[in-house]
Amino acid sequence: MKLKGVILAGGTGSRLHPLTKITNKHLLPVYDRPMIYYPIETLRDAGIKDIMIVSGRGHAGGFLELLGSGHEFGVNLSYAIQEEAGGIAQALSLTKDFVGDNKMVVVLGDNIFEDNLTTTIETFEKTPIGARIFLKEVEHPEHYGVARIEKDKIIEIVEKPKQFIGNLAVTGLYLYDNQVWDVIKNLKPSGRGELEITDVNNFYIQQGTMKYDIIPGWWADGGESIDTWLEANNLLARRSKTSIPQNIEVIIKETTEKVVKETMKLMQSHANQTMNDYSSKYRKIYNEQEEIKSPEEIKSETKENPFKNIVKDEDDVPFDINNYYTKD
Ligand code: DAU
Repeated sequence: MKLKGVILAGGTGSRLHPLTKITNKHLLPVYDRPMIYYPIETLRDAGIKDIMIVSGRGHAGGFLELLGSGHEFGVNLSYAIQEEAGGIAQALSLTKDFVGDNKMVVVLGDNIFEDNLTTTIETFEKTPIGARIFLKEVEHPEHYGVARIEKDKIIEIVEKPKQFIGNLAVTGLYLYDNQVWDVIKNLKPSGRGELEITDVNNFYIQQGTMKYDIIPGWWADGGESIDTWLEANNLLARRSKTSIPQNIEVIIKETTEKVVKETMKLMQSHANQTMNDYSSKYRKIYNEQEEIKSPEEIKSETKENPFKNIVKDEDDVPFDINNYYTKD
């Protein structure tokens, strides 16, 4: 079974008025590309090829015109229309037939992630049931769904809490199993008249099957307000200017390994050289002291002087009778 991708790009975008008066929020630029490009790339980079985009009725044509079949991104795009902005969970329910019996990765169309989430998504694919979310520390938790964590365990998510309960925002990327369809069926609209994704997540928390990760890289919600949209623009502009490669960790690891290997080689050759220097120096001293002689030479020398080849060392002092008398 393959994971399916879902991008939710409906809603009214009213928080970005008047920019979104005549176009859809996800078609607005974020630095040098339309906002919708980023979630497509997030899914594509995580190895997800089949993606459904849910858009509002008004601007569906704009998405088709811009993205077509998805060929340009190397993915297969399908489309669904949300007639009215009934909430994120309601938009997700429109993709049930597309997802079929598979699990799914759902991304909000205005969310931009720096991290590549492939490893976590692959781990999720292997878990039998449940859901997984990604948290990020933020300055203004009151603008997001916020996770209440106790002893590393997620207790609940509160949507846009009025009182401070923590600063870990629930980002807009969710991994769900097939239970999600029944959960959505049983949801009641919230105070703002929407089927809330937070209620879906709280179901999994209560079931004890919700896992979470805190993402290390930056994350932007480009649709939260004009300010966050501008912030996302600036963030991406800066990233493109500094352009740190995606695989920087691999590059650092490989370079370090290479440097260590070369250093070891150099040390080894220095050590060998030093050993050689010492051994040739001592070989020379030794050879000077003891010329190597053939047995014939030794024999003839011994004939001339029977004591010549007797080794003399410091103890081999010539006999002197005086040494044996104590002097009074
Ligand atoms: O960005 C993360 C936050 O997204 C989470 O922390 C919140 O828990 C979650 O509720 C959501 O909050 P927002 O207030 O940012 O949601 P918003 O209404 O902006 O919708 C987010 C995306 O969902 C939007 O880009 C389009 C899509 N959407 C939204 C609605 C209401 C739809 O496709 N249909 C909808 O009816």
